[in-house]
Amino acid sequence: MIIILQNFTYILLQIILLPISLIGMIYANYKQQKNSKKAKISYTAGQVIQGQWILHFFNIRKDNNIINFIKKFPAESHIGFYMMFSAAILANKLVNFVPKALIKNNLDDISSYSFLFFRTKKIDQLVKENIKKVEQFVVLGAGFDLRSIKFNNDKLKTFELDKKNTQNFKLETLKKAKIITNNITYIECDLNSSDWSIDLIKKGFKKNKKTLFLFESVSCYLDEKIVNNILSNLTRISAKKSIVIQDLYSTRFLHQDEFQRVKKGKKLIKKFGENWNFTINMDNNVELEISKLLEKNNLTPLENYICGKNSTKSKNPFYAISLSQV
Ligand SMILES: C[S@@+](CC[C@H](N)C(=O)[O-])C[C@H]1O[C@@H](n2cnc3c(N)ncnc32)[C@H](O)[C@@H]1O
Repeated sequence: MIIILQNFTYILLQIILLPISLIGMIYANYKQQKNSKKAKISYTAGQVIQGQWILHFFNIRKDNNIINFIKKFPAESHIGFYMMFSAAILANKLVNFVPKALIKNNLDDISSYSFLFFRTKKIDQLVKENIKKVEQFVVLGAGFDLRSIKFNNDKLKTFELDKKNTQNFKLETLKKAKIITNNITYIECDLNSSDWSIDLIKKGFKKNKKTLFLFESVSCYLDEKIVNNILSNLTRISAKKSIVIQDLYSTRFLHQDEFQRVKKGKKLIKKFGENWNFTINMDNNVELEISKLLEKNNLTPLENYICGKNSTKSKNPFYAISLSQV
């Protein structure tokens, strides 16, 4: 009965507020696309923080820093998002309505839309559980993610790596938003070259300290050879029992026609110079495919979260989060 009331309230508000939602959507998309292109920054990194904005406003993952960051970020529109989600936010305030995609936790039912929210929540949980066990935190291809600030503590040394333009844009926005970044070292890099590990050590990374590496939705933009180089380099420079959190996409998902909306997304991100590349075959034994990748690079698999087999055309999973250890 409550669910019917919640859905009814949302649909009614959405009909009334449709023009506002549409204007917000057009404005937010226009601002993101125009300014991402102009500044030559990662467009896809911007998509991730949109998901975090939504989770905040439905009280699922409170993160005031992300909201303050977005308010000052030239390639996102806080007002545009508010307008776009006005009906759902109002329905949330009135009758506690929460869009289903935000709270889907059954791995098999995760879809091409809900996986973005699932990924943020699951990776938060894995970072929270594992950060206590390490002295260093390295975020590879950090984009605009603010976990290094969220999980910052006095005993932890944190390093963030990304391409120059994306990282500089982030640093300028952090400054404008007055977000404190103590203990965090920012290193510009191109992961296609192995210089990143040399620069990391030059900037104070200690080979003998246990480290947590976060490699979230970055490997899919790189060649297979580079992904293997990064993983083997990472194990080479790290203390035993260092931990790696990474995610992986299926070949069907990024390169075939598992979902119609993904095809459109592929065309769009190409315009920003971002191309999907590395994937793994998820048609048969996904655990085995993940193990092969990890073991080849001296990593021991610990946990896998394999998602989406009920929501794809092929009835195979399309996304996985892997936790492994050096
Ligand atoms: C989809 S975003 C993910 C950002 C962040 N990890 C997150 O989940 O919010 C991909 C990120 O990888 C970075 N990236 C892609 N190729 C890279 C490369 N060759 N060197 C360094 N960073 C790269 C992009 O700049 C971007 O920030």
